Amino acid sequence: MLALNWSLDLTELPETDSLYECDGAIRQSECRAAELFGAAYTAVSAGGCTLAIQGMLAAFAPVGSTVIFSRNIHRSAVNTAMLLGLRPVWVMHRRDAGEGLPGRVAPEDMAAALQANPGAAAVYLTSPDYYGCLSDIAGIAAVCRTYDVPLLVDNAHGTHLIAFDRHPLTCGATASACSAHKTLPVITGGAWLNCRDEQAAKRIKSAMALFGSTSPCYLTMASLDLARAWMQAEGMSAFRKLADTVDALRALAVKVGFGVPCGACDPVRLTLLTAAVGFTGDKAADYFRKHGAACEHSDGAAVVFILTPFNTSHDIDVLRRAIEAFPVREPIALSVSEPHMPAYAMPPRAALERVRETVPVEQAAGRIAAEAACPCPPGVPVVMPGEEIDDKCVKILLSTGIYEISVIQ
Ligand SMILES: Cc1ncc(COP(=O)(O)O)c(C=O)c1O
Repeated sequence: MLALNWSLDLTELPETDSLYECDGAIRQSECRAAELFGAAYTAVSAGGCTLAIQGMLAAFAPVGSTVIFSRNIHRSAVNTAMLLGLRPVWVMHRRDAGEGLPGRVAPEDMAAALQANPGAAAVYLTSPDYYGCLSDIAGIAAVCRTYDVPLLVDNAHGTHLIAFDRHPLTCGATASACSAHKTLPVITGGAWLNCRDEQAAKRIKSAMALFGSTSPCYLTMASLDLARAWMQAEGMSAFRKLADTVDALRALAVKVGFGVPCGACDPVRLTLLTAAVGFTGDKAADYFRKHGAACEHSDGAAVVFILTPFNTSHDIDVLRRAIEAFPVREPIALSVSEPHMPAYAMPPRAALERVRETVPVEQAAGRIAAEAACPCPPGVPVVMPGEEIDDKCVKILLSTGIYEISVIQ
């Protein structure tokens, strides 16, 4: 049995500070993190990136306001939109990253949405996505400045991008939610909400307090401060070194026959497109697992490995050997559908307020979704609450292993 040092599990005391009214140790740790990210204000979250996303949306988008969302957002943002009664305007991502990958939202598509929705309170998108694909944050930030609208970025997978000058805040985003526990040495649930807008910063704590527990985990918060210190001392160079390792693995994989995402990507995420070597991503993941390399995510098209500076040279060797020995077959064709937008039936908040029931997905065509239905990971909904489930949604949901769905009665 693991021996835990319970004495480290602290609570609110004069010495330990209080998250939502902080002016001591927690505030100092937030100020040090703000320095790392070049933010005007940083708030810690022990409720994951989900709480940072909730706080970010609540601080920038008044209840009932219109927000321009990229369609490939995580369900935490969809749920927040429901709770806040936001009116989403969806911007489709373009298939610009490779077959089977969601792809990115183009600045000109965001500009068109802003032009068509002059009252929009904010623009919100996810970058990087689960596959490491980076959106053109600088381009979209420039569009947002033209329309004087804040750009909010779900940077759950990209806290470490600060080591590559590609963090959303560095690229011009107004605020970003960063799931530090995904890529830095942080205890599960540790995240930061970074903000460059000093006026909005004043609203962030009260916005987060709407959703967060009054008993945040002090171990998680302390681990954020330790990770911040590690980033400043060694982490930046450790991530740059890791990027060289991942570059070499990627080049090897391409030589073997795998595809990789095109366009701007997270330098340390290794996403391999497997149709070119004759496998679905899921089958390739089985092969890698049998050979000692567990991936973070697989689906029909890809396997995704999240490497960290804490992987040993043995770990890297195991993965290298598995890539080298991959039993390449004839390429297979992927049945990839275009990004799909089901018909709008009612605002997400209205769907939340209606009585719901759970039905088999096969019988759901024509019904209205009561909640976001998504395979997780990557947690990107196929159908949003308040949208009509059509035959295409049914097909996609069944193909991702979702057999039941909540619909309004
Ligand atoms: C893109 C994205 N955003 C937000 C989240 C939520 O993060 P957390 O689990 O830290 O609350 C996730 C979780 O996987 C994610 O993938």
